Amino acid sequence: MTHVIITGGSSGIGLAIAGIYASRGAHISLLARNLAALESAQALLGKKCDVSTIHIESVDVADRTETEDTVRRCEDRFGPCTILIACAGVVEPGPFETISVDDFDRQLQTNLFGAVHAVRAVYPAMKARRSGRIMLVSSGAGLIGIYGYTAYCASKFALHGFAEALRSEAKPSGVKIGICFPPDTETPQFTRELETRPREAAVVMGSVAPWPAAKLAERIVDAIDKGRFETFFDLTLWLLGRFGSVAKPMLNLWFDRAIARINRP
Ligand SMILES: NC(=O)c1ccc[n+]([C@@H]2O[C@H](COP(=O)([O-])OP(=O)(O)OC[C@H]3O[C@@H](n4cnc5c(N)ncnc54)[C@H](OP(=O)(O)O)[C@@H]3O)[C@@H](O)[C@H]2O)c1
Repeated sequence: MTHVIITGGSSGIGLAIAGIYASRGAHISLLARNLAALESAQALLGKKCDVSTIHIESVDVADRTETEDTVRRCEDRFGPCTILIACAGVVEPGPFETISVDDFDRQLQTNLFGAVHAVRAVYPAMKARRSGRIMLVSSGAGLIGIYGYTAYCASKFALHGFAEALRSEAKPSGVKIGICFPPDTETPQFTRELETRPREAAVVMGSVAPWPAAKLAERIVDAIDKGRFETFFDLTLWLLGRFGSVAKPMLNLWFDRAIARINRP
């Protein structure tokens, strides 16, 4: 039986991914903090499938013990996790010296350690069974540093290092590790983020239209189906992912000039 566990499954990209697996008849466990949002997501997905195949759990993935206990409850209900999607994430933009220590730390605790806690809860058993898939949701901001995103970039870059090392360790067991780097995507988080995105960041990130969450989710599920390690979504992110160390000195020069222009009196 396919049992998909999705952290951050109550909203945005995670919910869109859940929709695809619901249409496929999988058993799905959605993890997030806000119970009301989880219940709404469950009801929404219940229109595509038997609602008893959707399990919800309120949990803060930043808490390791809570996350591991929650995953155990999901597995008691639907059996071993066959696919984990670590999608829970938060972003609080702002220049480094203006964001509070708590806001900085929360981004690391959720985006990096929250994903690690979820992986820790399923990976040893997947390895023992010699099967399973894990998809980590990073960001374009995990490929290049962006003004106003020190904590977010740190968390999403770190996820890449974690994924690369874990892929190497997991390879002999047949457990497939994947990581994806979404561009701007139409979700509640994106709407909130735009309200506080520094204009320096807006200038360097350009005005490319955000992706619909459903389209992004299709690409993520396709990558999981194919056991692909890295997913970049568009040519710019692919070039950054593949040739970033060569391109970034020039890109950063261009970014610095664009930022200097808007700050000129
Ligand atoms: N949207 C974009 O433009 C974009 C671009 C690149 C990468 N991403 C990444 O994609 C992922 C999904 O983002 P989204 O845009 O779909 O955001 P979203 O709509 O705000 O969804 C975020 C999900 O994560 C959950 N979450 C947040 N903190 C959590 C915590 N501590 N413990 C458990 N669950 C938590 C939220 O539920 P609760 O708040 O109820 O906990 C919600 O279900 C994130 O990792 C984000 O960084 C998004």
